[in-house]
Amino acid sequence: MREVNELPRLRLGLFPTPIHKLEHLSALLGLDLWIKRDDLSGLGLGGNKVRKLEFLLAEAKTQGAELVFTTGGAQSNHAMLTAAAARRLGMTPILILKQRGVTACRGNQLLEKLMGVDVRFMDTDDYADIYAEKDRVGQSLGKAYYKIPCGGSNALGSLGYVACAREIARQGVDFAHLVCAEGSGGTMAGLALGAKLYLPGTKVHGMMVDTDPFEEITLRLMREAAALLDAKLDISAADFSLRDMCGPGYAIPSTEGDEAVRLMAETEGIFLDPVYTGKAFAGLLAMAKEGAFAPGERVLFLHSGGAGGLFAVDMED
Ligand SMILES: Cc1ncc(COP(=O)(O)O)c(C=O)c1O
Repeated sequence: MREVNELPRLRLGLFPTPIHKLEHLSALLGLDLWIKRDDLSGLGLGGNKVRKLEFLLAEAKTQGAELVFTTGGAQSNHAMLTAAAARRLGMTPILILKQRGVTACRGNQLLEKLMGVDVRFMDTDDYADIYAEKDRVGQSLGKAYYKIPCGGSNALGSLGYVACAREIARQGVDFAHLVCAEGSGGTMAGLALGAKLYLPGTKVHGMMVDTDPFEEITLRLMREAAALLDAKLDISAADFSLRDMCGPGYAIPSTEGDEAVRLMAETEGIFLDPVYTGKAFAGLLAMAKEGAFAPGERVLFLHSGGAGGLFAVDMED
């Protein structure tokens, strides 16, 4: 087996990100609750995509790519961070985004404008149309290009969160539970695989903020990422738990999610977002209410970023 830190990777973020206790929330909820600050990952406004991009763009550089394509919704944090990473590396980002969500110059659209990014919208719900368009544009520009899938969620990108699990294991505090948002699957798959390798006492819980078949997606990504590490592991659905926190729909704020955003802000001065981390934290609160965490068990919440989205979506007053 190869250690995740032996694989080719560029340095884009500021790692390790801090882990600290949420003192007020712990007292309020009767939990031993901690947070992993991947919102402070050091590129753009921070967030989980930086870890994936370190592996993906290392491959792009090795292949000699000058252009980097990716996709997502209009307010994709992943697309914005891919553009920031490409700028950092002197590559040219081109974003071909679904014309869904807030396309006005707010949130991540504003940040992309500030970076002078070529953003194109396609009125489609089918990523196959977008991937074909990436090839058409890439070939017409006559430069070597690299395509990153939606959310950076392929096996290579997922290694970023295997590396995160390794990082947590070396930060000196043990956790019984680790809770994260699951949107395209790479973060959760990487953490679940990384927990098997580096955090054997930690249960990983994914809070689904979309309606895709996440059990299947997570298992596939875990197995493909394990293959990249030559790790012979028995991977099954028992390696993680999933909870539906999508509410009214992907990228549509939910009442519980918005309440969780407010609770974190009011008690700890930390900003979650209404699309991913707010809904994920609402899932953690629901688990706590149901008694899923035994007394004395330490719980870690992954703050995966999303600040751009906070300034795009209208929340209830
Ligand atoms: C802020 C934030 N948190 C969590 C996620 C979910 O991560 P993943 O797409 O790897 O499931 C995303 C990505 O879509 C995100 O932007």
